[in-house]
Amino acid sequence: MKKLLALILAVLMMVACFAGCGSSEKLVMGTNASFPPYEFVDDNGKIVGIDAEIAEVIAEKLGMELEIKDMEFDSLLTAVQSKTIDVALAGMTVTDERKLAVNFSDTYATGVQVIIVNEASDIKTVDDLKNKKIGVQAGTTGDIYCTDEFGQENVKQYQNGALAVAALKNNQVDCVVIDNEPAKNYVKANQGLKILETEYAVEDYAAAISKENNELLEKFNKALSELKADGTIDNIIKKYIPAE
Ligand code: ARG
Repeated sequence: MKKLLALILAVLMMVACFAGCGSSEKLVMGTNASFPPYEFVDDNGKIVGIDAEIAEVIAEKLGMELEIKDMEFDSLLTAVQSKTIDVALAGMTVTDERKLAVNFSDTYATGVQVIIVNEASDIKTVDDLKNKKIGVQAGTTGDIYCTDEFGQENVKQYQNGALAVAALKNNQVDCVVIDNEPAKNYVKANQGLKILETEYAVEDYAAAISKENNELLEKFNKALSELKADGTIDNIIKKYIPAE
C-alpha cells in the first residue's frame, strides 16, 4: 500500500513538473529601453514599445513566456554571446561586423541615421560635421560611422540618446547622430531642436540571437514571417509610428 502511494505520488510529481516546466519556458529578451518608440519605460515603469510588443507576440506564438532585461546597448551583443539573454531586440542595425559575433533574424523595420541640431545651428549637411563635436549613443552605428569618418576626438559617447540630446541642448556637443524615430521623439520632447533633412545612412533592424542557437533563430524567423503576413507587425509599428 505504502509502495503504491509512493508510486502515485512520484507519477503525480512528474506530471506536475512536465506541465510546469513546459509552460514556463522563457524567452529572455535584452534591450536598452531609452530608445522610443522601439523601447522605453512607460509611466508605470513597464518596458513598452515596438520591440517589446513584437517580442511579446513572437513569444506567444512559440508558447514561451517573455522576460525583458534592460541593459546598456553596448553590452547586448556579449549578453547574447554568453547566453545571458536569448535574444536582443533593440532597434539594432544589422552590420557585417556584428554578424561576426551573433546571428541576425530576418529584418522587421528600417532605420535611418539622422542629425539633430539646435535650431540656430550652422550645420546644414553631413559635410558640415567636420571638426564639430558630435554626440552619439555609445556602441551604436551612429557612433561607429562618425568615429570612422570624423575621428574619435570629435565624437562624444553617451550611455543613451536622451543624455546625448541633453548635452546638445547644453551646447556640450554641436549635433547628435541617431536613428530617425527616436530622434523625432527627442525633438518633440525638447524645445529648440530640429532634425536635418539629410539622411546619413539607411539601415535594417533585426533581432540578434546566439550563433549556437539555430533552433531559436529558425523558430523566431518562422513566427516573424507569419506575423508579418497577417499584418500583426505592421499594426504594432503603426501603433507607435502614426503615419504622417
Ligand atoms: N540602430 C542603432 C544601432 O544598432 C542604434 C540602436 C540603439 N538602440 C537602443 N535600444 N538604444 O547601433
